[in-house]
Amino acid sequence: SRTVSRNADGQVTVGGLDVTALAEEFGTPAYFLDEEDFRSRCRAWKDAFGPEADVFYAGKAFLSRAIVRWLTEEGLNLDVCSAGELATALAAGMPAERIALHGNNKSTEEITRAVEAGVGRIVLDSFQEIVRVAHVAERLGKRQRVQIRVTVGVEAHTHEFIATAHEDQKFGIALADGLAAEAVRRALKLDGLELIGIHSHIGSQIFDMAGFEVSARRVVQLLTEVRDEHGIELPEIDLGGGLGIAYTSDDDPREPHEIARALGDIVRKECAAAGLSVPRLSVEPGRAIVGPTAFTLYEVGTVKELEGLRTYVSVDGGMSDNIRTALYDAEYSVALVSRTSDAAPMLSRVVGKHCESGDIVVRDAFLPADVAPGDLLAVPATGAYCRSMASNYNHSLRPPVVAVKDGAARVIVRRETEEDLLRLDVG
Ligand code: LLP
Repeated sequence: SRTVSRNADGQVTVGGLDVTALAEEFGTPAYFLDEEDFRSRCRAWKDAFGPEADVFYAGKAFLSRAIVRWLTEEGLNLDVCSAGELATALAAGMPAERIALHGNNKSTEEITRAVEAGVGRIVLDSFQEIVRVAHVAERLGKRQRVQIRVTVGVEAHTHEFIATAHEDQKFGIALADGLAAEAVRRALKLDGLELIGIHSHIGSQIFDMAGFEVSARRVVQLLTEVRDEHGIELPEIDLGGGLGIAYTSDDDPREPHEIARALGDIVRKECAAAGLSVPRLSVEPGRAIVGPTAFTLYEVGTVKELEGLRTYVSVDGGMSDNIRTALYDAEYSVALVSRTSDAAPMLSRVVGKHCESGDIVVRDAFLPADVAPGDLLAVPATGAYCRSMASNYNHSLRPPVVAVKDGAARVIVRRETEEDLLRLDVG
């Protein structure tokens, strides 16, 4: 986060507030999110893509009403993938025409709510859904703007991509075997649908632009086929999200302007070659906007030094507030933030308080050898897919999200209470 620094006593401060005071006021574990950092990342994406493109923040990374208001103010659009995210967006006043609905198995109920609300687009993910959305729209006497999500045969991993003819995964409609072209044919026939474009999302935590370039090229190729077959030029393409962030110092993320230039160049070049007018571009970054803006603050409870192995440092949260290490072998860094220490660094594993040995927050980290109960540890870059994937495992209470700005902190998502847990337990 951009406004984090360490003062002369070794206390880390965020937005001018020291972490010990924050821990006292809000408790631990807690996520602290730097509002100005969030807003400036929104602006960087907006500016990089310019007025000829749209930036849809992917709400699955982290969504709350405050986030929706900031997005609305900064001119971003929003990608939602469930009725719950849609309800949050509408409750916070995001204009429906700036919302896109995603998902590989949207219920008729979700589709109905989205069409009724007047969302700007629904991204169609299957042949069944083409018909389902058309029926809902027709029943409501509307014509719904839609994109078709295609799988372009590029599987993007963090540092590599493998081109495959058929993608073995649940999302989208394959370009291969003419399936996507058939989806376009069917969508164009239905009165309830206004087909505005093609969508492609190739993966997440990607650093290599090559996968995006292949994706852009293949999507433009489909637009060309559509023009040749139907005599129409679809006006929009969306190249999804997936831009990686720095979890550790080994990661080297691309800046929004590099991404915008790379994608814009390839789309313009391919369109020029095909004699197509350049479609309006959109992208859907989630992690790249919110990920770096928050850190999790934990208090150390116990320390076990296993001779010749490593030291296990247990904190007061764990896989219930950050499942990513257990689920994806994700890497994080960690720092002692409540004081400085001259003690030698020791190989440590930061673990949670849950009842399983896979409950690891940071697999390998060097922490000062004198780390002790009561110390505060911060794990940076936990803004994306941590609170949004948090659970009540072991009936733990999900931590709050505290927004920090101009030397003031305020809760935007409060800590769960035992009453919250028991309210759902009606047996
Ligand atoms: N658009 C679509 C259609 C998506 O499916 C996703 C993410 C995004 C945009 C945003 O991707 P981002 O820019 O945040 O990478 N839980 C995993 C990530 C799953 C992402 C799913 N889709 C994690 O914690 O790494």
